Amino acid sequence: MTSVEREFIKRVNRIPHHGLGLSVDVYQPDLIELAGELDRRGLDYGYLEIFKAAPAALESVRRRMPDTLLSYHAEGLWVTQPNPERLSPFDAELDETVGQLRILGSHWLNHECATKQMAGYAFGTYLPALFTSASAEVTAENIARAQQRLDRTIPVCDGHDGNGMGPLFLIETPPLTYVGFGDVNMAEFFRLVTDLTPCGVVLDIGHLWTVYRYTGEWRRRPLTAFLAEFLDAFPLERVVEIHMAGLAPHPSVPSHTQAAGEMPLWIDAHGAPIPEVLSDMLAQVLEHKGLINLKGVALEVDTKPIPTIVEEFAEAHARFGPKIAHELRDERDERDLRDSILAFPAFPASLAFPASLASLAEQYDRYAQIVTGRAATGLPVLGQDASALPLYSEHYLPHEILEWGGAVREMFPETCRNLDRAGISLNGFVRFWFREPRDTDQAYDFFLLKIARFVEFVREVLPDSLVTAEQEAQALRDGYQAACEQVGREPLTVNR
Ligand SMILES: [Fe+2]
Repeated sequence: MTSVEREFIKRVNRIPHHGLGLSVDVYQPDLIELAGELDRRGLDYGYLEIFKAAPAALESVRRRMPDTLLSYHAEGLWVTQPNPERLSPFDAELDETVGQLRILGSHWLNHECATKQMAGYAFGTYLPALFTSASAEVTAENIARAQQRLDRTIPVCDGHDGNGMGPLFLIETPPLTYVGFGDVNMAEFFRLVTDLTPCGVVLDIGHLWTVYRYTGEWRRRPLTAFLAEFLDAFPLERVVEIHMAGLAPHPSVPSHTQAAGEMPLWIDAHGAPIPEVLSDMLAQVLEHKGLINLKGVALEVDTKPIPTIVEEFAEAHARFGPKIAHELRDERDERDLRDSILAFPAFPASLAFPASLASLAEQYDRYAQIVTGRAATGLPVLGQDASALPLYSEHYLPHEILEWGGAVREMFPETCRNLDRAGISLNGFVRFWFREPRDTDQAYDFFLLKIARFVEFVREVLPDSLVTAEQEAQALRDGYQAACEQVGREPLTVNR
């Protein structure tokens, strides 16, 4: 056993069993109403995982559900990126994370192994890490840095008995949105990361389905064979939590794009029903002998109607509840294990990773250019299958900029009418957005970014309408601020 493995065991053994729970947003669904419905149906839920939100909103949930085990889904920590401080204030984001973990009393924080900012380009939704060994090293180093900050701040301030151990950093297998890049597969990548740092892992079943779909594995072998090989290569002993959500085609992609005989062009969709294929995948995962440190399984149900949540939770409860309870009970004698690891050295304060930041930064720049349609090639493609990449660059991405997280025509109605009269297409705004990298020292906020970028765009293409655009921008910012203060909430634009 390596010192990293021992360190992980020391940390994970401190985490209580969470059972079968739900991953939600504080604003949607209504948590009190949902909890009431589950109670009425006699459905016990072990925990709620809460997505990043305004502290006041988290405090309100904590107050209203004092006996519920709550865990935390973080956002805005771009650990996959070389020099994440250049993209957004990493340490400040970490401090905010610490505050939110404290409010909830969470034993872990979960973050996607993905980013919404890379090489000076900003996106609305996640793009997975580049799957290379250099990228794994950088990701591990950033996770270690985050873990050290958690260790320093939370136990000291809260008086835990943790000997410098804060909540455990969990890194989640990301979804592929039509394509992935790199020269190692996702299982190997996570093995590389976990060999270097004692983090935990969240295995997302639906995300794994998108890997099967968009690396072309579905053309080569059955899903069960793919999954069996994946699980054997993946660091399953690091899996602390499992996620399962829905899958659906994206509204921006024309339905005729789906060729006869091909698998559906589904992507991760928390509001969509959970297809049966994912439940079958979960059953296969739960049977695997390597899953020895699992603490919780959560259905991700933010943006889903409460009746659907309750039905799906009832089904999962009936099918997996006993198995999950058994898995969580059936483990080694924790006290013996804890005693045996007390003598092992703590994780080193600083890690010696090879200096490969410059080339990785260049690769992320190329990554951004490829997915935005500005470069055709230049990176290895996962599974050598980039056949669905045009769905991202030609449909998904313009939708993200023009519609998702705030429709530009609704945000700037008067300015858009002026642009229409001048014969200027809004598609130009998408090209403008990705024309060049832009550094920022602001915390990531897609809605505010969209407002600022659109005003810049109008300044360039129709200066006569700049005053109108600025007035509409100010009204948007004021309304946004007021909404945040009123209900203690943050952007409407977060997605996972
Ligand atoms: Fe997830």
